[in-house]
Amino acid sequence: MTDPLAHPGLFITFEGIDGAGKSTHIARLADAFRAQGRTVTLTREPGGTPLAEKLRALLLSDAMDPLCEALLMFAARRDHLQQVIEPALASGEVVLCDRFTDATVAYQGFGRGFDLDVLRQLEAWVQALPQGGARQPDLTLWFDLPPETAAARLVMTRAPDRFESQPVAFFSRVAAGYSHRMQEQPHRFARVAADQPIDTVWRSVRAVFESRSWLSFEASV
Ligand code: TYD
Repeated sequence: MTDPLAHPGLFITFEGIDGAGKSTHIARLADAFRAQGRTVTLTREPGGTPLAEKLRALLLSDAMDPLCEALLMFAARRDHLQQVIEPALASGEVVLCDRFTDATVAYQGFGRGFDLDVLRQLEAWVQALPQGGARQPDLTLWFDLPPETAAARLVMTRAPDRFESQPVAFFSRVAAGYSHRMQEQPHRFARVAADQPIDTVWRSVRAVFESRSWLSFEASV
């Protein structure tokens, strides 16, 4: 088992509108951390546990009102934190999580127009730590892409889910939501311009990790 004193756990989340292209970079980062001897937990929201994956299936397919949607997102998150994220961090692992609460603020808050104060309260309850305060990511990579570019990319992919089928105006509001979160909590955010070729985006991602001395890359990587 990893010695938690030798390696404090790292909680890193990945955000952006649908079509921003997070997945390739998450997989490459997992490889890079593993190559440096770290244990990596690769996970996603909504989802990451058997219960939360069931909630994900409902959230992505069934129509529901905004409060129901927000409550199910946070219910899934609570289970995910308790079953997966907190234990992994306590054993000094690197947790790479595809989306977290910034997505709820961006999609349910800004996208759907749901009450931001209610979301803030849910965040405080669901992410509460025994020592006080709330669990937050150590780093959030925001893949920022113009909504029109994302929409053009999504046309090429599989059948859209309940969120992906929203109009471009919805994704403009979601992007504004991410920008709002970054302004509120700038210390944990790194914005990556995602409207670039994949290797250019990857160089930006690497630079974020190198600047924190969390990873070092050989010239060949
Ligand atoms: P994503 O993991 O990007 O799905 P995909 O498999 O299509 O890449 O995210 C699933 C969808 O859930 C995405 O459209 C954003 C949405 N979502 C919310 O609306 N609120 C949330 O809190 C989270 C975590 C995701």
